[in-house]
Amino acid sequence: MNPPAIRIRPEVEADPPAIFDLTRRAFAPMPFAAGDEQVLIGVLRDLGALSLSLVAEHRGEVVGHVALSPVTHESGEAGWFGLGPISVEPALQRQGVGGALIAEAKRWLSDQDARGCILTGDPNYYPRHGFLPAPGHAPEAEPPEYFMVLSLSGGIPDGRFRFHPAFYA
Ligand SMILES: CC(C)(COP(=O)(O)OP(=O)(O)OC[C@H]1O[C@@H](n2cnc3c(N)ncnc32)[C@H](O)[C@@H]1OP(=O)(O)O)[C@@H](O)C(=O)NCCC(=O)NCCS
Repeated sequence: MNPPAIRIRPEVEADPPAIFDLTRRAFAPMPFAAGDEQVLIGVLRDLGALSLSLVAEHRGEVVGHVALSPVTHESGEAGWFGLGPISVEPALQRQGVGGALIAEAKRWLSDQDARGCILTGDPNYYPRHGFLPAPGHAPEAEPPEYFMVLSLSGGIPDGRFRFHPAFYA
């Protein structure tokens, strides 16, 4: 099967309802889903904490989305971001759309001279995109076995990260 033709671009004013709906549908079948991933994106946006919001467009429809937000580290070191939620239209999963969104998010992080990026996710999926398990750096109350870090420069400082407060609301 040919991969779907997609265009990746930053979200525009008309996109939030489609992003909300896509995220809800993509996470619904996932056993680990909290059920409010689609709400979290809106809260981040309202707080001015949606550092990057990229959509994948296919035939004029939003079929993929990834969010980046600022995170903190107990050392006080700045320049770290959190990746997620990330969603791909269920019918178009496993055709490279998620990988393309992550690649574009990594390009943005490099352009910002970011130190790196953290996420909680499937340890079988994210290492192919450079994220490595980092259980010793997991935020409190986060499952350490699913916590991963992409270090872009300078390694990972000792201590724990913390996602944006919106993740704990
Ligand atoms: C996770 C997700 C964003 C990946 O996007 P994608 O476009 O399907 O990913 P890609 O096509 O770039 O990569 C495909 C690979 O991802 C992995 N993968 C994709 N979805 C997966 C899933 N639900 N569970 C485990 N691995 C998955 C597989 O290893 C797959 O490779 P394979 O087909 O060789 O087995 C997408 O599947 C999704 O929206 N899932 C539901 C929401 C979710 O779980 N978000 C992430 C929470 S951490």
